[in-house]
Amino acid sequence: MFLMFEQAPWRALLMTLCFLVIICLPHVASSSKTASFALAPATAEENSEANALLKWKASLDNQSQALLSSWTGTSPCSWVGITCDASNSISSITLENFGLRGTLYSLNFSSFPSLQKIDIWNNSFYGTVPHQIGNLSSIFHLDLSDNFFSGSIPEEMGYLVGLNYLNLSINNLSGEIPFIVGNLTQLTILELFENTLSGSISSSIGNLIDLSELSLYENNLSGTIPSTIGNLTKLTKLYWYKTKLFGSIPFSIGNLINLNELDLSTNRLSGPLPSSIGNLTKLTVLQLFDNRLSGPIPFSIGNLIGLEKLPLYENELSGPVPSSIGNLTELTSLMVYSNAIYGPIPSNIGNLRKLKYLNLEKNYFSGTIPSSWKNCTNLFRVRFDDNQLTGDVTNVFGVYPSLDYVDISDNKLYGQLSSNWGKCHNLTSLKISNNNLSGGIPPDLGKATQLRVLQLSSNHLTGKLPKELGKLTMLIELSLSNNKFTGNIPVEFGALVELANLELVANNLSGSIPKQLEGLLHLWNLNLSRNLFEGSIPSELGRLQSLQILDLSGNLLTGTIPAALGQAPRLETLNLSHNNLSGIIPSSFEDMMSLTTIDKSYNQLEGPFPDIPPFRNATIALLRNNKGLCGNVSGLMPCPLVQHDSYDKKSHKIMLLVLILTLGLLMLVFLVVGVACFLCRGERNKSEEGSEAQTQNVFSVWSFEEKLAYKNIIEATEEFNNKYIIGEGSSARVYKAQLPNGKVVVVKKLHSVLDGEMPNLKAFESKIQALTEIRHRNIMKLYGFFSHSRFSFLVCEFLEGGSLDKILNNQRQAIVLNWHRRVNIVKGVANALSYMHHDCSPPIVHRYISSKNILLDLEYEAHISDFGTAKLLRADSSN
Ligand SMILES: *[C@@H]1O[C@H](CO)[C@@H](O)[C@H](O)[C@H]1NC(C)=O
Ligand SMILES: *[C@@H]1O[C@H](CO)[C@@H](O)[C@H](O)[C@H]1NC(C)=O
Ligand SMILES: *[C@@H]1O[C@H](CO)[C@@H](O)[C@H](O)[C@H]1NC(C)=O
Ligand SMILES: *[C@@H]1O[C@H](CO)[C@@H](O)[C@H](O)[C@H]1NC(C)=O
Ligand SMILES: *[C@@H]1O[C@H](CO)[C@@H](O)[C@H](O)[C@H]1NC(C)=O
Ligand SMILES: *[C@@H]1O[C@H](CO)[C@@H](O)[C@H](O)[C@H]1NC(C)=O
Ligand SMILES: *[C@@H]1O[C@H](CO)[C@@H](O)[C@H](O)[C@H]1NC(C)=O
Ligand SMILES: *[C@@H]1O[C@H](CO)[C@@H](O)[C@H](O)[C@H]1NC(C)=O
Ligand SMILES: *[C@@H]1O[C@H](CO)[C@@H](O)[C@H](O)[C@H]1NC(C)=O
Ligand SMILES: *[C@@H]1O[C@H](CO)[C@@H](O)[C@H](O)[C@H]1NC(C)=O
Repeated sequence: MFLMFEQAPWRALLMTLCFLVIICLPHVASSSKTASFALAPATAEENSEANALLKWKASLDNQSQALLSSWTGTSPCSWVGITCDASNSISSITLENFGLRGTLYSLNFSSFPSLQKIDIWNNSFYGTVPHQIGNLSSIFHLDLSDNFFSGSIPEEMGYLVGLNYLNLSINNLSGEIPFIVGNLTQLTILELFENTLSGSISSSIGNLIDLSELSLYENNLSGTIPSTIGNLTKLTKLYWYKTKLFGSIPFSIGNLINLNELDLSTNRLSGPLPSSIGNLTKLTVLQLFDNRLSGPIPFSIGNLIGLEKLPLYENELSGPVPSSIGNLTELTSLMVYSNAIYGPIPSNIGNLRKLKYLNLEKNYFSGTIPSSWKNCTNLFRVRFDDNQLTGDVTNVFGVYPSLDYVDISDNKLYGQLSSNWGKCHNLTSLKISNNNLSGGIPPDLGKATQLRVLQLSSNHLTGKLPKELGKLTMLIELSLSNNKFTGNIPVEFGALVELANLELVANNLSGSIPKQLEGLLHLWNLNLSRNLFEGSIPSELGRLQSLQILDLSGNLLTGTIPAALGQAPRLETLNLSHNNLSGIIPSSFEDMMSLTTIDKSYNQLEGPFPDIPPFRNATIALLRNNKGLCGNVSGLMPCPLVQHDSYDKKSHKIMLLVLILTLGLLMLVFLVVGVACFLCRGERNKSEEGSEAQTQNVFSVWSFEEKLAYKNIIEATEEFNNKYIIGEGSSARVYKAQLPNGKVVVVKKLHSVLDGEMPNLKAFESKIQALTEIRHRNIMKLYGFFSHSRFSFLVCEFLEGGSLDKILNNQRQAIVLNWHRRVNIVKGVANALSYMHHDCSPPIVHRYISSKNILLDLEYEAHISDFGTAKLLRADSSN
């Protein structure tokens, strides 16, 4: 999530910009000439133009022809999408966003001597771009973007020397870029992005000296950036990201003094960032992240005073950050993480008053955190972690009202924890682990009530744990291990109801473990090891419903192990070693099905250990040094043969067995009677209808509201006629059917007819039953199941949107599926899984979530489908 915060907004912005480029430009150009002379008599030329268009129209699919219904007769000037010039010759064809489908093969490009503009973006044209396109002698504006054109760009494009605007982006074009052999010298805009073009870019690109926008991003281009790029001094936008460029950034880039936006991110560019970059004083966007750029950040970067964001992360930059960075007072984001930068943080960083995102993580910054940092009061997210910062931080941090996340872990900072953190009222994460902080935790920290994560482990902190921390009721993680805290755990900690992870390892904490910890119902990991806790283990810990790891080792605990601990339903790892516990291991442990690891060594325990999996494979290391543990582990003495305790248990078991058998028998009787009744009723219906004998022996499960008949499905699909097929999988063929009541459903006909005698029919049946009972907006509704000697099939909800997998693989649909919708899909899937795992009884595990199994409706709401491999979980199983 945090990474998404850092990167997603940039991409989203870029996508938006690209949309704007695609959407706005053609309109600007198209508003120039719109003369139409419908009433003028048809000339010979008009006729040949009309014929050429009609021939093309005839080659398109039926639906497209319907859209072009005005294309009849011999006067094309009045047809939709067609504009003529003063001499009634066609000057433009503008059919963008029409939904047309077909190829350009039947369009005779030689027939349009005056054609200046073709705009057919956002249609479904496919096939190659014909060589004859080179015959468009007057063309000025050509936009074929956002279609399905494939193959390579024809050489003949190079004849179109009058072209001013060329857009072939968002297609499947491949091969090298041929025509750029510098012939199209009139071009001002060239867009080839989102194709699979390959090869390197010819240096003749430097001839296109009128170019103002050049977008080649998201292609498979390789090779280097030709230095002739420096000739394109009118360029304002250069988008060259996510290609596969290598080599260095040419020095001549500094000539592009009109550049506003430069994006070379996510390539393999290496070498230094040329100092000439400082000449690009009009830059507002500079994206260079995710390359292999090395050497220092040039001092001249301080000239780029229009920059709002400076993402240089994930390169190999080294050297100190130049002090000129303090000139970039418009910066809201400075991200240089994951480089090899060393030296101090510039002391004038406080000039960057608008800074919200500052990430210096994973470098070699040294020296102190400059005190001017107090002036960056708009900070939202800050990461200094994993550097070599030193110095006393007692008074370095100010109050940052918007600050959400701060991580300065893994440095060499010392001094005391500032009470100012408590005044950062929006702070959710404070991470200062692995430094040399000393002194106590200021009680005022309890005022940072939005805190979710507090990590102060591995410092030299002392004093008592302030009870005020109990006010941080949103806390999810509290990690104070490896310090020198003393005193009790305050009973107020029992109020931290959201806490999932509490680590107080290796301190000098003492007193008894407060029973109030039973309030931590979300606690998952409780690690109090290596302290001085005494007294007995509070039995209340057995009520911690979510607890999976409990480590109380290395304390001074006494008394017996409370039987209630055996009731912690999710406990997997239990370490009680190195205490003074005595008595026997309670028999309640026999029910702990989830337990996988247990360590009870170095105590005073005696008696047998329970017959549960972790003990069956236990080695002496986990049980050694006790008073009298016995059992079948080498190194321990065997237990005496007869024991009242275990005899009692046996008799309990027998009684339980009898009970289960009786219940089972009872259920069987009910079932037989039920099935018999069902069949009788079925027979009666049949005989009443007096029809098809085949519909006998139908086994079916239906959801309560959908009492449909087998017959209806057979009729709706005309006995599974192929014309209703909408898909086929390995186990089933999928049909779309409209029921008599108008409802559209999906019918999945299983390839193999379900065998009535198959051994796990029972399990299958209860699975289907459970699935038909699910009602959740993010789970595809299963209406029912039918099995018959001829067909077995499932009937499910029909979702118009198709599968996520299909949408993501279609360039156009993938763009429509914007970030907002994607996040919503993720939430939907999470809701569905949470529902199945926690709100269904018995819980259901899907076991095969993939983009193929996530279907969308028209609102892009996710629905999980395909429960073919799903399993119902026994409540006591340890999966
Ligand atoms: C298109 O129309 C023609 C005749 O009008 C018809 O023969 C053909 O089947 C139609 N094609 C489709 C895909 O509907
Ligand atoms: C593309 O055209 C279709 C109509 O064919 C329209 O519904 C859709 O909104 C257009 N997409 C864009 C991105 O303009
Ligand atoms: C295309 O049009 C030109 C000019 O109208 C004509 O000379 C030529 O024969 C046409 N080509 C075809 C294949 O129809
Ligand atoms: C490009 O222009 C050169 C002359 O400048 C010419 O020789 C060549 O044929 C042209 N290429 C194309 C594909 O038109
Ligand atoms: C383009 O740049 C190269 C060197 O960078 C130079 O030799 C050439 O003359 C330039 N061409 C034009 C048309 O300016
Ligand atoms: C560009 O920057 C370099 C170094 O910063 C400088 O030497 C050169 O004169 C500048 N060129 C222009 C055209 O401003
Ligand atoms: C940028 O800052 C440096 C020192 O930090 C200063 O010497 C230089 O003049 C500044 N440049 C501009 C363009 O403001
Ligand atoms: C913070 O800004 C104020 C003026 O806005 C200035 O007087 C002060 O010196 C700055 N503090 C630091 C530490 O740079
Ligand atoms: C603190 O967070 C709240 C809720 O996200 C937000 O509305 C508020 O503007 C934030 N305060 C500051 C000073 O950023
Ligand atoms: C015990 O160990 C054996 C071999 O390492 C393993 O196959 C078996 O599954 C283990 N049994 C349990 C209950 O963990």
